[in-house]
This record gives sequence, structure tokens and C-alpha cells, in this order.
Amino acid sequence: MGAKIIGTGSCLPATVVTNDDLAKIMDTSDEWISSRTGIRERHLVKEETTASMSAEAARRAMDNAGITAEEIDLIIVGTLSADHVTPSCACEVQAQIGAKNAVAFDINAACAGFMFALNIANAYLQTNTYRTALILGAETLSKIMDWNDRSTCVLFGDGAGAAIVRAEEGSVGVLAFDQGSDGVKGGVLACEGRSNNNPLVETSKELAYVHMDGQEVYKFAVTAVPYSLQKTIQAAGLTVEDIDYFALHQANIRILQSVAKRLKAAEEKFPISLDHCGNISAASVPILLDEMNRKGMLKPGMKIALSGFGGGLTWASAVIEW
Ligand code: UT7
Repeated sequence: MGAKIIGTGSCLPATVVTNDDLAKIMDTSDEWISSRTGIRERHLVKEETTASMSAEAARRAMDNAGITAEEIDLIIVGTLSADHVTPSCACEVQAQIGAKNAVAFDINAACAGFMFALNIANAYLQTNTYRTALILGAETLSKIMDWNDRSTCVLFGDGAGAAIVRAEEGSVGVLAFDQGSDGVKGGVLACEGRSNNNPLVETSKELAYVHMDGQEVYKFAVTAVPYSLQKTIQAAGLTVEDIDYFALHQANIRILQSVAKRLKAAEEKFPISLDHCGNISAASVPILLDEMNRKGMLKPGMKIALSGFGGGLTWASAVIEW
């Protein structure tokens, strides 16, 4: 039994904010942002929400897969920026698309969220618990950015990506998977939640924003990601040369170049979306995959290596057959 991706979709907010736009409101420049990261613009929400972008990405993925909402029996959203503490984003998506037969829940594995969702769906599908899963990565990161901290706010964007994964007899789908966490180093990329709020304690009313030690996260990424990919490719019984594309989390073009170098893989095999999307945490991998799919880059039988990495710290890789 293979857990195969049979459709993809994505949704970006309508408003595009360029590096030059940011340079008008803070002490930064297109030169600094694009040379350090490869990012040129990002989409930021005005009216859109994490759930509304997710529902739209889901509709496009269902359309691409040629399935109806009633066929979906599992919805998992990887997100750290859901609109509400409860209901979950997945339950909101269920309601908005009319997937009345699905069980729906969110998971938080930061930038590895979509990859963790893929692995969870794969486990359910392999054991015949469910047949058709809708998995998403979706974020409205602009609401948890400190817009006075130029070292983080210029890096991130908003958006959602989705995939339909179906259990298919005789197909391969997910060939191998690796995932891990290192909670001890969680402080290098963090966002506080709500503080205590009961009559026994003094309450801080400070708003919670993302703070990141960029250089520590960078070092983690360029070490953990090639190792995880190498391990997954080997577990799939393949070599780096067998991989047609590496669809990785889009944090920084220099990270992608470094991973390519460490794996001795051609940079052309690392498609990018960060130039026009920025870093959208859990949404990066599924948006990139959808762009590749819609450009006709993905042909049946191709081997794609996927990897997400970030807050937690968390990381996850998979090798799939398209
Ligand atoms: O999705 C989760 C995974 N996240 C990541 O993978 C992020 C990984 N880290 C990175 O991509 C990089 O570390 C950054 C892009 C975040 C930062 O690049 P860097 O080369 O490590 O820069 P830096 O933090 O060392 O800052 C260098 C200089 C500093 O000035 P001084 O102290 O050298 O005078 C900063 O104040 O750049 C300054 N700076 C800026 N200048 C203009 C920081 N942010 C900006 C900015 N515009 N937006």
C-alpha cells in the first residue's frame, strides 16, 4: 500500500510587499535582504486568515486531485499561527470546504509542520485507518512578527499549501522518512504563548513575538538537513544522483546552496519559492511542491526529496515517488 500525493494546491495573500517597500518603513535595504537571504518580496495578509488561505489551498488541491470534499477522511494542518486556540485550523477548514466525513486536527512542528503531517498521514494510510488525507502547512506569521525587529520581520511571509494523499494499492508514494527533534535548543527560535492569567500571579501583558538567533538556526540547518536527507535517501535504497528534485523548506538561499554542496548535488535540483514568498514556516514545502506541480516539473516515477526544519528544534525529510 502506498501513500501517494495525488493533488496539490496553494494560496498566497493578495498583497505583495517588496524589500523596497520594507525599506520605506524600517532601516533595511533590498541589497541587504536579497544578498543575505535571496528574498525579494513576500505576501502579507490584510483580509485573509490562516483558515481562509488553508481552505482555498485545499479547494485547489481537491480540484487538482479530482476528488470531492466528502471523500476526505483525515485533515491535518501543520501550523504555529492558527487563528484561534480552539477550534483548530483543521476543524475550520473542514467546515469551510464541507469535508463532513473527516477527522481534523492541527500539529505544531514549526517549519517542519507539513512534513510531520505527511508522516502522520502516511502512518494512518499504511495501516488502512484512513484512505484519503488532506494535509496542509499554513501560516499567518506577520501577526507574530515584531515589526520593530528588522533581523526577523523581513524574513517571513504568509500563505498556505495543501496536498491530497491517498492510499493506493500497488503505488509507492512515500519511500522513506526521517524526523527528529531537539527541544534542548528550542530557545534559538521561539515565540512565547500567553502568560499565566489567574488571581494568584502578576500577569505580564506583553505581546508575544518571534525571536530568533539566526546564526544558530543557520548552523543547525546546514548540519541537520544534509544528514537527514542522506539518511532518508539511503533508507529508500537510492543515492543522491537518483533524486530528481530536492524540495526543501525555504528559509534562506544560502542554506539551500550549502545543502546542495554538502550532498554534492546540482543546485538546479533545488527549486526555490523564497524569492517571491519569503519564509512561510510550515507552508513553505507544500507551496513549493504546488508550484513545481503546476509548472509541469513533476513526472510520474520521479523521486523527490522533501525536508522541513526549524523551531522546536524540529526536522523531517521524506523521499517520495511522484
Ligand atoms: O524557518 C526557520 C529557519 N530559519 C532559518 O533558517 C534562518 C537561518 N538564519 C539566517 O538565514 C541568517 O542568519 C539571517 C538571514 C537571519 C541573518 O544573516 P546573517 O548573515 O547571520 O546576519 P547577522 O544576523 O549576523 O547580521 C549582520 C548585520 C548586523 O549588523 P552589524 O552588527 O554587523 O553591524 C545586523 O544588525 O546585519 C544587520 N541586520 C540588518 N541590516 C539591514 C540585521 N537585519 C538587517 C536588516 N537590514 N533587515
